[in-house]
Amino acid sequence: MSDRAVVSSSKVPNLTLQPLSILVLHGPNLNLLGQREPGIYGSLTLAEINHLLAAEGLKLQVEIFAVQSNHEGVLVDTIHEALGKHQGILINAGAYTHTSVALRDALSGVNLPTVEVHLSNIYRREDFRHHSYIAAIAIGQISGFGVQSYLLGLQALVHHLRKDKV
Ligand code: DQA
Repeated sequence: MSDRAVVSSSKVPNLTLQPLSILVLHGPNLNLLGQREPGIYGSLTLAEINHLLAAEGLKLQVEIFAVQSNHEGVLVDTIHEALGKHQGILINAGAYTHTSVALRDALSGVNLPTVEVHLSNIYRREDFRHHSYIAAIAIGQISGFGVQSYLLGLQALVHHLRKDKV
């Protein structure tokens, strides 16, 4: 298994709206979706979630570029590489949400508008999941709606990026 898996939707022809590219980042263990604790995370695989995001991206006329990694440093590098390529970041940092100052600093460092999402409601779960290092530097957080968290998060991010610009 390689360090990171990359999925890209084709560029959408855009006549009226400003062209946007969104980096979707999936953190550790999200490659196991579909088989991992389906009672908590649902039965969709990561590929199916990426497919739904690409379809939503088509509707919103934004390009989606999805990356999953189990490695904190790879996620940090991918955030750095987003500068100049992507206009916003949609992130489910998985367990790194609750542990990683490095991911938070990378997101603050590139200063790209970021929306944090979680499949499960992290506030209904164990205490250690109640704190997010990312929440304070994100535009907002959507937690607990399964795959809809990603789709709602994408809509919110695109709306934020386009407000005052159309
Ligand atoms: C998660 C919640 C995290 O607490 C957990 O470590 C995950 C997935 C979610 O999407 O619900 O890996 O981010």
